[in-house]
Amino acid sequence: MQGFTIAFVPTMGYLHEGHISLMEKGRQLADVLIASIFVNPAQFGPGEDYDAYPRNPQKDSALAQKAGVDVLFMPEKNQLYPEKYETYITQSNLPRFLCGLSRPTHFTGVMTIVAKLFNIVKPHYAVFGQKDYQQLAIIRKMTHDLNFDIKIVGAPIVREPDGLAMSSRNKYLSPEQRRSALALSRALAQAQQSVATGEIRASALIETAQKTITSVRETAIDYVVIGDPETLEEVSVIDRPVLMALAVKVGQTRLIDNCILSPPVDKTS
Ligand code: PAJ
Repeated sequence: MQGFTIAFVPTMGYLHEGHISLMEKGRQLADVLIASIFVNPAQFGPGEDYDAYPRNPQKDSALAQKAGVDVLFMPEKNQLYPEKYETYITQSNLPRFLCGLSRPTHFTGVMTIVAKLFNIVKPHYAVFGQKDYQQLAIIRKMTHDLNFDIKIVGAPIVREPDGLAMSSRNKYLSPEQRRSALALSRALAQAQQSVATGEIRASALIETAQKTITSVRETAIDYVVIGDPETLEEVSVIDRPVLMALAVKVGQTRLIDNCILSPPVDKTS
């Protein structure tokens, strides 16, 4: 399509308002909006929920059309990973942190599929959610390192009215687990509040967040980390805007969430 700019939104489907917000952003950025739905086996580890991952292609097609998607790409598994497929992308640093610790092959799977989709779709812009903060950072780095001529655009986390970050995996939650899951966004909001009122010790903020999360039923913390927003390395003092990121299992469902903690502006200097 010569002379047209293309925006691209890759997804694994079971679309919700978080995905739709990325499509709306893409719609504003370019002439043509392409989205993909592909539950990527390469990013699921053994024992993870690849087979159970929710799928609803018909509803998704209708939602994507309503959001202004011009082309919805829904490849089959053997089209992208035919027999004897054997090329994968790795990255040295960012995947060592946060989700990479408990999901050691996950980001290789994500980078590989995103690079393949970039080569197929050839977009000028690609939109990713800040909900998956580490994924966005890794894709930015991959795009830069591999000289993809694509502008990576980040979009804010879309939440349910009560604060729960939207996720296709929320569907797995029982009503009681759905209530417990609110502890994630509550812990982040509490930390933001504490930082706003002068707490600068990461250890104290992390401890409070851990208490908030473990005080509700059926939660098991994977990580609660405060880190540098670029390198993801842990920080001990909140002396600049930093990332607070959580991964928590609620029952069998692994949920993630994050926010930026910004210390109050020092009005004396
Ligand atoms: P998926 O989980 O379907 O998410 C697709 C995109 O939607 C990602 O960029 C994700 O960050 C964004 N997203 C999900 N929930 C969001 C929310 N509540 N608010 C804003 N954005 C949200 O992420 C993947 O798929 C896959 O790893 C993929 C990049 C498609 C590669 O397979």
